[in-house]
Amino acid sequence: MELHHCRVETSMKVINVGVIGAGRIGIVHLEALASCADAKPIIISNPTVSKAQAAAEKYNVPEWTANADDVINHPDVDAVWICSPSSFHADQIKACAKAGKHVFCEKPIATDMAETIEAINACAAANVKLMTALQRRFDPNFARVRQAIEAGEVGELVQVKLCSRDPSPPPFQYVKGGGGIFCDMAVHDLDMSRFLMGSEPKKILAVGSCHIDKSIKTLPGPEAYDTATIIVEYEGGRTATIDVCRQAPYGYDQRAEALGTKGMILTDNMYPNTARLYLKDFTGNADMPFDFFMSRYKEAYIQETLAFCKALVEDLPSPCSGEDGLMALIMSVAAGMSAEQNRWVEFSEIPEVRACTDPAHCKIIDPIEFALEATHNL
Ligand SMILES: NC(=O)c1ccc[n+]([C@@H]2O[C@H](COP(=O)([O-])OP(=O)(O)OC[C@H]3O[C@@H](n4cnc5c(N)ncnc54)[C@H](O)[C@@H]3O)[C@@H](O)[C@H]2O)c1
Repeated sequence: MELHHCRVETSMKVINVGVIGAGRIGIVHLEALASCADAKPIIISNPTVSKAQAAAEKYNVPEWTANADDVINHPDVDAVWICSPSSFHADQIKACAKAGKHVFCEKPIATDMAETIEAINACAAANVKLMTALQRRFDPNFARVRQAIEAGEVGELVQVKLCSRDPSPPPFQYVKGGGGIFCDMAVHDLDMSRFLMGSEPKKILAVGSCHIDKSIKTLPGPEAYDTATIIVEYEGGRTATIDVCRQAPYGYDQRAEALGTKGMILTDNMYPNTARLYLKDFTGNADMPFDFFMSRYKEAYIQETLAFCKALVEDLPSPCSGEDGLMALIMSVAAGMSAEQNRWVEFSEIPEVRACTDPAHCKIIDPIEFALEATHNL
């Protein structure tokens, strides 16, 4: 697929970027930054410094280091791309805020709600922008579905259906301590349901089960599931139905459907080309669909980079805020509660949800205030 070159039309200034983490997603973002004329990575860190060096050499990044603090405190860095494992995100965001650096953070902002709120507050207090990298919002296919809904092309929205299946399950060690299927995987779909519905969710019902790698059955809570089905109810009883599974033998499966009163819009899987084969015993696409997130969402990663750079250059709000990241986490946690307790969970049951009162401009309040309020309400 021909990729667009990412250029912010009105840009006057090149954003100097520091990248933390040279793993899978770190490389994806270096790739995206390489096609963005308005942002230039100038330093990258990874504790195994040889990984940082290899990435720096491949993508022409002039400096590399083992220490993330060198990136955060580099005098020439304007914005930091956090691509480290999730457990480091909150502290690294807070350090960026302290150093006055804007932050582009891979999902999740943090693995826990109080830390997420602290990280968001730190950025707000330091007046630096924070972006949660929920890249599906920037995928041209999903974006077109949202555009159709917003423009009323399918009439009044009635139902949303999302399907997300990975090609094969991750290793046991990844699943263990990884937060479970809702926080680690379905978080993208939960966010997408909210993005497409364009309103705040009311309640959620989820079930999970294990069918593929049975060894994970010994893990706690949603870590024991490799398959899940979720219903999210929005205003007026409208629902989004989500099904996720860690294995699809035919590859990475990412589809969405929105039914309205005038019609329906759907987006299918993406293929590297449109060639189709017609044989005696087969008709269909000549090649398999894109096989995982690195190739399937390549354009989305570029578009989210472009959108954040534009926000930095033109001083616009973050195109996917910390509060959006918090809401996605809240939805994932609520899905886990629902599956464990076998019941609908109302979002009003989760005190942190009160941090997001308005979908566009969530007001984050102090986590200590939440805790006090929660105790008071017992
Ligand atoms: N948006 C998406 O589609 C998507 C896809 C994959 C991963 N992610 C997110 O990206 C993050 C990283 O995932 P990954 O798949 O690249 O993992 P990974 O294990 O491939 O890479 C992480 C890298 O960070 C390095 N690292 C460890 N501690 C560090 C520290 N303190 N500072 C800097 N670097 C450190 C590791 O050595 C490794 O090279 C996770 O938070 C994950 O949730 C998002």
